[in-house]
Amino acid sequence: MEILTLIKSRRSIRVYEEKSIEDDQLKIVLEAARWAPTGANLQPWHFIVIRDKKMREEIGKYAKFFFLKSAHVQNAPCIIVLCYEKNKGRFGIYDATLAGANILIMAQSLGLGTCWIGAFDEMKIKQLLDIPENVAVVALITIGYPKENPDPPPRFELEKIVHYENWHNVKEKSFVETISKSGPLSILKKFFKYVSI
Ligand SMILES: Cc1cc2nc3c(=O)[nH]c(=O)nc-3n(C[C@H](O)[C@H](O)[C@H](O)COP(=O)(O)O)c2cc1C
Repeated sequence: MEILTLIKSRRSIRVYEEKSIEDDQLKIVLEAARWAPTGANLQPWHFIVIRDKKMREEIGKYAKFFFLKSAHVQNAPCIIVLCYEKNKGRFGIYDATLAGANILIMAQSLGLGTCWIGAFDEMKIKQLLDIPENVAVVALITIGYPKENPDPPPRFELEKIVHYENWHNVKEKSFVETISKSGPLSILKKFFKYVSI
């Protein structure tokens, strides 16, 4: 698949077939993770593969945002717990995140669905999996064969988010910026600038 098409076709999948993923496919996905870039090539990452149903259910208990539980966590046939060693460089969180992005895209190319889970109780997950103190958990990535085909959620147009040469050269100004340049907010802004001097 052409790379941009592949990237655009990836969706967060929250409903999975009850079928475990093949070892070969899992290996390819982890291999893609391993080849992501890292600061000073320190490779501080670790990937914990959870396939055991009981353990997935336990993890699922702690994957929630306040009281909203992400049911798809325990229902996915596999969870990859994305971690990094905190004492290996300053960029562990970025290193692990880049590996995670490779996982999502590689999985997509193999016909697997994934979902990045950022809402979880890190302390509980660490206790459950016996993860050492110096290791942080960045995300839980659910992975399996998709049983849904969600429509793509909207993305901001490039005109709104790409700036050329400096912050001000953006084709479409944000609402706040437009108002603050020409409306009553600009007067307030000038006033506060004046009083802060
Ligand atoms: C940092 C991060 C945290 C996320 N946390 C969750 C989560 O806790 N639960 C969940 O169901 N989806 C989570 N997602 C998935 C997003 O909701 C999803 O990527 C977004 O709505 C865009 O949809 P798409 O992935 O289909 O393009 C997270 C994604 C990212 C990048």
